[in-house]
Amino acid sequence: MSYLTTVKQVYRKAATEPDKTLCCVPQAPVYLPGLVIPPAMAEMNYGCGSTVHLADMRAGQRILYVGVGGGLEALKLAYFAQRPGGVIAVDPVPEMRTAARKNLQEAARLNDWFDPSFVDIRAGDALKLPLDDESVDLAAQNCLFNIFMATAPGKSGDGAIQASDLDRALQEMHRVLADGGRLSMSDPITPRPMPGHLKDDEILRAKCISGCVTLDHYLQTIVSAGFGTVEVRTRKPYRMLQRTRYGLDEDLLLESIEVCAVKVPVPDDGPCIFTGRTAIYSGPDETFDDGRGHILVRDLPASVCDKTAAALADLGRPDLTVTGPTWHYSGGGCC
Ligand SMILES: C[S@@+](CC[C@H](N)C(=O)[O-])C[C@H]1O[C@@H](n2cnc3c(N)ncnc32)[C@H](O)[C@@H]1O
Repeated sequence: MSYLTTVKQVYRKAATEPDKTLCCVPQAPVYLPGLVIPPAMAEMNYGCGSTVHLADMRAGQRILYVGVGGGLEALKLAYFAQRPGGVIAVDPVPEMRTAARKNLQEAARLNDWFDPSFVDIRAGDALKLPLDDESVDLAAQNCLFNIFMATAPGKSGDGAIQASDLDRALQEMHRVLADGGRLSMSDPITPRPMPGHLKDDEILRAKCISGCVTLDHYLQTIVSAGFGTVEVRTRKPYRMLQRTRYGLDEDLLLESIEVCAVKVPVPDDGPCIFTGRTAIYSGPDETFDDGRGHILVRDLPASVCDKTAAALADLGRPDLTVTGPTWHYSGGGCC
């Protein structure tokens, strides 16, 4: 039996018996004007962050949500789309689709602006999406991809290595996104590679505890799927795996991140990964031009990707300051 069968069993149960301990981190309630979240839907928040960001919203865009859960994020996305079929939500677990439909019916009762037809719930799998190539502009998944088995670090995308489920899921998202489309994701990460005995525990993996990879590995896998720009928007504590309870040498503090990957070609000199760094010029001139397309206005921090940050730091100029990652980035950067 594949671990993917265990995953479906876990979510079949979570669809019929809401589990408050599953996946989520404590989060402030959602406040959007005129949006009322049904309590049963809020109880089924099985995400580990948010994948709904104002920065990604465009008029008329086609939206895909993979792993619908109780429908909370699909409803939030529908709030921005507000049209029949504006959000396509995919899930392979029939009980989860039924629960989401029921919660969305209740949402329609509580929200005048919402009609259940705004969310088109489809049976389907992240590993083989039931959508045409380049058919959506925004895709999202919350706390699902960490469950998928990943290829060892450094191996993703190598033609000689068989693609892992995580590679495949990201490749599918890349396939269905139009050029310039955005993939918004939230997943846990681990500070060091997950020990084998936890990685192989199918229940812990299904519950988003032990399948996650390191941040570098996660980002590298996204880039290997063909996304040329990646923004790390948020990074925060997610779960403590206590040494004695999990059979570890030392405690392991997992974090969760929110990331947006953009379907643009990976530049020849490497991807643009934004982690919240800035560069500040404080020399005698009004501006500083690095000759590579970046013009810094004196004394003003400019958001830069890690690649540009490293290149500017390498110049070794005393009038250039490069700040470290804040793990909080919301656009406006150098690439
Ligand atoms: C951790 S829950 C997250 C639910 C939702 N995204 C949220 O934030 O509340 C994982 C979801 O993915 C669904 N799922 C499990 N295996 C999947 C697969 N192979 N493809 C797509 N969805 C899957 C589960 O049924 C469940 O709804």
